Amino acid sequence: MEIVIQETPEAATEIAAMIVARLLREKPDAVLGLATGSTPLLLYRSLIEKKLDWSRVTTFNLDEYIGLPQDHPQSYHSFMWTNLFRHVNIDRARVHIPDGNAKDIPGVCAAYEKRIRAAGGIDLQILGIGTDGHIGFNEPTSSLASRTRIKTLTPQTRKDNARFFGDEESVPHHVVTMGIGTIMEAREVLLLAFGAQKAQAVAEAAEGPMTAINPASALQMHPEARFCLDTGAASKLQRAEYYRWVYDNKPDWQRP
Ligand code: PGA
Repeated sequence: MEIVIQETPEAATEIAAMIVARLLREKPDAVLGLATGSTPLLLYRSLIEKKLDWSRVTTFNLDEYIGLPQDHPQSYHSFMWTNLFRHVNIDRARVHIPDGNAKDIPGVCAAYEKRIRAAGGIDLQILGIGTDGHIGFNEPTSSLASRTRIKTLTPQTRKDNARFFGDEESVPHHVVTMGIGTIMEAREVLLLAFGAQKAQAVAEAAEGPMTAINPASALQMHPEARFCLDTGAASKLQRAEYYRWVYDNKPDWQRP
């Protein structure tokens, strides 16, 4: 696991944006796993500014609320079109977001897994992290081998997401999310986290034992996982000074 700590969310995002941009330039038909929430907003803005060619890029989003109309402002369909897809030359047919309104949700989940495989697997998965350590919407005690499926949000996540909906009651209880096993199959994983409210979850994920109580800790078993953090999110890491030194003293050939 590589842990990159920068002073600001903007600086941490820029490193992530360079990694995504390099992938899209080197592999124009790359398969990207995408995340929603407040964390990746800066990343998407930066990628839009970089004027990359998205025409052959395939995307798979991590998750979606169940029962929220696709055109609801807080659906992840709306989020992705508003914050990224509308601003780049992506082919609509190559965009995949779980359908939270399907009659047969388990069928949708199985088909999603199949589509990821048919696309050749995910080259690079972007992740945020919940204050409870969730990745995607894999809440604490999610199986570390889980696949795309229905999950029930924890009260903490519904409280965290109430800011988007105006009140907690409006946050759906149920979601479709890629599983941790699904995420672990991405060839590279890039987790972004900003702010002191993420510090505990980040420290447990990076330095704690691998445990389903902190689903992000499964990334300790991923051979190509990178955390891009600001100082707030890094503030509870025991070995922050070591990670800073490693990054600052990287040989040029190892830089993104
Ligand atoms: P946030 O959510 O980016 O809105 O903080 C992160 C997450 O729940 O994964």
